Amino acid sequence: MPLAIRAETSIFPAPLMISYTKQPHELEHRLIFKNVDRVGWDPSIETYIADGGYEDLKKAIAMAPKDITAEVKKSGLRGRGGAGFPTGMKWTFIPPNNTKPVYLICNGDESEPGTFKDRYILHQDPHQLIEGMVISCFATGAHKAYIYLREEFPEAALLVEKAIEEAREKNFLGDNVLGSGFDLEIYVHRGAGAYICGEETGLIESLEGKRPYPRIKPPYFPAALGLYMCPTIVNNVESLCHVKHIVRMGGEEYAKLGVTRNTGTRILCVSGDVKNPGYFEVEVGKVTMRQLLYDMCGGPKDGREIKAVIPGGSSSKILKSDEVFKLKNPDGTERELAFWDIPLDFDSLAACGSMAGSGGVIVLDDTRRMSWVLNNLNAFYAHESCGQCTPCREGSTWMKKISDRLVEGKATPKDIETLESVAYQIDGRTICAFGEASSWPVEAIIAKFRDELLSETTEEVAPGETNPESAEQHKFLVS
Ligand SMILES: Cc1cc2nc3c(=O)[nH]c(=O)nc-3n(C[C@H](O)[C@H](O)[C@H](O)COP(=O)(O)O)c2cc1C
Ligand code: SF4
Repeated sequence: MPLAIRAETSIFPAPLMISYTKQPHELEHRLIFKNVDRVGWDPSIETYIADGGYEDLKKAIAMAPKDITAEVKKSGLRGRGGAGFPTGMKWTFIPPNNTKPVYLICNGDESEPGTFKDRYILHQDPHQLIEGMVISCFATGAHKAYIYLREEFPEAALLVEKAIEEAREKNFLGDNVLGSGFDLEIYVHRGAGAYICGEETGLIESLEGKRPYPRIKPPYFPAALGLYMCPTIVNNVESLCHVKHIVRMGGEEYAKLGVTRNTGTRILCVSGDVKNPGYFEVEVGKVTMRQLLYDMCGGPKDGREIKAVIPGGSSSKILKSDEVFKLKNPDGTERELAFWDIPLDFDSLAACGSMAGSGGVIVLDDTRRMSWVLNNLNAFYAHESCGQCTPCREGSTWMKKISDRLVEGKATPKDIETLESVAYQIDGRTICAFGEASSWPVEAIIAKFRDELLSETTEEVAPGETNPESAEQHKFLVS
């Protein structure tokens, strides 16, 4: 049955009748995913234009670039790639007296485990991204832009290449875009399949043809010293798509979606132990954990209970389903917030000690052993560390080796202590945030599930007796 969804635009008559192969939940608010899994939709430019596509670009190109940036600032849009940094503010970090070329990079690496939203946009609505990028380039003064795609997205690369060609033919790209005097080329660049290429400075190095070794910030903040040491704006796929909607709606109107300081919509990718995992686009902060996991995802599988959730991609700290958080009110008083009542926005999740991150919500039920979860995460980070910093390179490998022992039933209680100590010694001592991405999950899992982990250890294997590696690590840490 067709579903009436709210039309956010002046160019569509409201309500717009759109039907989907998977019906959106009534708590969803489709803006970015309006065309995803839409019946009769295809990624061609003809379909996009017939649906009002590139009208927002026509509006934007008649505006002054600084006015577009002002609207993006007003909208309160925060980056959807992980850190939640305000997009408009990032754009203003390009030095005002800059004489070098400015570049814009779309981060389509989508490598954070648990995250699968950008792929849908790239596959099903590439013109939405291109339109958002052209507007963003016009606003920031970039004449060359790159879409950096992870190696594992070969279909996306073909689809986006095709969409770029189509857009160039219609003069939405290329020289003198729509007769405005503005020139722009967008290139697709494919990575070789490394998580660290999602980190913006690692991505830039990779784009320059080098190993993706992240750069030290400061001084290498991309907006000042980015690609080829020129000012470079790096934004996530979803963030760039929001820009066209902000232009259409106006920053103030857009900011009415969501809650204070956490505006707009965002796509949550739910995976793991719920009846109906998948993607859900919601107004930021308007849906609670309970609504997401029970009303939208159908709750846990029969006979099981939700034990814990990793709310913002694998790097975010785990939350236990029976936790109650003590939060500070603006007047200094305290209030309690139960796990199930957490509104899914940047600030609420940060106040609960975790983060909204990339929107990848990983659900774990009571059949999951936390030692297995820990080991799974450690294996990923040990494999993906770029190896530049000793604490990250050695620490991530040690953490994996210790949790290997844990899942094999060969760890001692002392190993849990060592593991925790290794994690804390990575924090704040690395070039990029990968360090914390690997240590935070370990710290949180140990803090919240210590007894469960200890119950899987054995006193019988004394360090140094049957387990020389464990003894070596203890010796090193206490020396
Ligand atoms: C280890 C690591 C991996 C990252 N992976 C991604 C990624 O796959 N996609 C992404 O958009 N941002 C990723 N980021 C965040 C980027 O560095 C950058 O903050 C982001 O692309 C900026 O876009 P936004 O402001 O629109 O969120 C990663 C960061 C780190 C530290
Ligand atoms: S923290 Fe890890 S991934 Fe980041 S630069 Fe250092 S070694 Fe590489």
